[in-house]
Amino acid sequence: QLDLDTKIIGKRIIHLNTIDSTNTMAKKIAAEDGEEGTIVIAEEQTEGRGRLGRKWVSPKGTGIWMSLILKPSIEPTEAAKITQIAAAAVALAIRKVTGCEAGIKWPNDIILERKKVCGILTEMSAELNCVNYVIVGIGINVNGDMEAFPEDIKKTATSVKASAGKTVSRKAIVLYILREFERLYLDFIQSKSLQKSVEICKKYSVTLGNPVKIINRDRQIVAEAVDLTEEGELVIRNQKGELEKIISGEVSVRGI
Ligand code: ATP
Ligand code: BTN
Repeated sequence: QLDLDTKIIGKRIIHLNTIDSTNTMAKKIAAEDGEEGTIVIAEEQTEGRGRLGRKWVSPKGTGIWMSLILKPSIEPTEAAKITQIAAAAVALAIRKVTGCEAGIKWPNDIILERKKVCGILTEMSAELNCVNYVIVGIGINVNGDMEAFPEDIKKTATSVKASAGKTVSRKAIVLYILREFERLYLDFIQSKSLQKSVEICKKYSVTLGNPVKIINRDRQIVAEAVDLTEEGELVIRNQKGELEKIISGEVSVRGI
């Protein structure tokens, strides 16, 4: 079924040809009373952004570069949970549309055949402990020519097409993402629990059970990823054998 059957997510879709970054655009719209569920999607980004100020390569017509505007009544510390909802929705969508075994690299990457096919960038505006809006940016290499990517990124990145072995409908993937995201997001808002998304993130995790290097500003630790909590945080066993919780905001996780 190729129809949008969601209630909130995608009620308004802003489809642009070229933009600097759909996340930047979505922030402006959200700040000017843009409604929850509005989506900004572009054929090309000239300044696509990753985490920590890094660049996201977004060539024309080949990928899904989109941002969702959300206005949840949650505390700012909870916004990172929405990344887990999006990761679950993207993994399910790629699996359903292509049959490929999409995995989730905690906290914000989707993986095909050990390479990154999608990144998620969740940004938020809050004041006085209240969230004004949350922007969920999703970038997926769908039919792009990975040979044309910069050398360093080529080594770690892939496209849906490369795994599926054929061109894949961007529209089909977008519709599945919106459907799955809405289901999981409404469940999160109504039940105040991330449980459903965490179950999916655990099931498709490529991180759990593996050694990881946790890198943040003041330290680097090598540990084993052992679990996700109900809040979507990573539980690791450090080299002393102790369990520690890692919050997504503060780290890069590398496989070793
Ligand atoms: P890590 O956990 O490895 O630090 P990350 O998920 O935190 O990665 P970011 O810090 O957000 O990633 O940075 C984005 C990175 O993704 C860039 O450094 C670049 O190497 C890579 N990248 C950029 N564009 C693409 C793309 N279209 N597809 C795959 N990877 C990309
Ligand atoms: C990551 O670094 O892994 C996150 C990348 C997020 C890229 C998407 S593409 C749509 C949206 N607009 C941006 O500028 N970034 C996000």
